[in-house]
Amino acid sequence: MNNLGVNALNRDKSGIGHNSVKMVTESVKTDNVDSNSIALAVTNLSKIYDSAAGRVVALDKVSFSVKKGEFVSIVGPSGSGKSTLLNMIGALDRPTSGRVYIDGIDIFSLRDSEIATMRNNHIGFIFQSFNLINRTSVLKNVKLPGTISGMSPSQASERAMKILEALGIADKATQKPVNLSGGQQQRVAIARSLVNNPTIVLADEPTGNLDTKTGEDVFDMLKTLSRKFKRTIIMVTHNPELAESTDRSILIRDGGIDKDVIN
Ligand SMILES: Nc1ncnc2c1ncn2[C@@H]1O[C@H](COP(=O)(O)OP(=O)(O)OP(=O)(O)O)[C@@H](O)[C@H]1O
Ligand SMILES: [Mg+2]
Repeated sequence: MNNLGVNALNRDKSGIGHNSVKMVTESVKTDNVDSNSIALAVTNLSKIYDSAAGRVVALDKVSFSVKKGEFVSIVGPSGSGKSTLLNMIGALDRPTSGRVYIDGIDIFSLRDSEIATMRNNHIGFIFQSFNLINRTSVLKNVKLPGTISGMSPSQASERAMKILEALGIADKATQKPVNLSGGQQQRVAIARSLVNNPTIVLADEPTGNLDTKTGEDVFDMLKTLSRKFKRTIIMVTHNPELAESTDRSILIRDGGIDKDVIN
């Protein structure tokens, strides 16, 4: 990722929609933390699923904060609540109670339309199954969050191409994602997650569908994003070696934080 220039990653974030949530920042302070150095704060976050099968407390009053530039791994047994936590942080779903602050903004105090803008402009997502749109090109996949946030099509294309170049897959720009290898598809997903220069990149088992070597390559890419470009990254993984290579590991068990260790 040698030619991933700072310019490719540091777009001025004063795009459409940003100002509306910016106002909220002024009035909201997270508890006991210097909000300037904190990318994310979660306070007393709970999620209860009520279904015909019964009641599941997927998250039970979880609180923690993540500093800007920190690379955090979330580990824990299957069903312990890791994806639920990531989905709440990324505002893909609403918590039952508790708060999530991103860049000091209390995201669930916003209107739904503002939450959508917040999600698009401040949060990058990388999923185990890539979640790319297969009927359209790699380039269009990567530029989509940019055009949604108000970049012109040419601006979005230029930025998407720079990132694809930096991730070594610019030659695949006109291909459909389905024709790429798993590792290449995940690099496209990483590129897409970076287009809006997000505050936080959330990755739910990003190496889970990849063979060991390809998974390590994708992980190294995330690590470079963290070390060299100071991105804040939260990654769920079942791989203990990868978890130990991050700055900090949070162990989730039965919907709560069991351990929180600096690696
Ligand atoms: N939409 C839903 N409706 C009902 N229960 C749910 C829903 N989503 C998750 N759960 C339950 O919440 C608990 C936490 O699930 P979650 O997907 O967060 O686990 P996880 O730690 O990500 O597991 P895995 O490692 O298998 O991905 C589980 O008991 C799960 O069955
Ligand atoms: Mg999960």
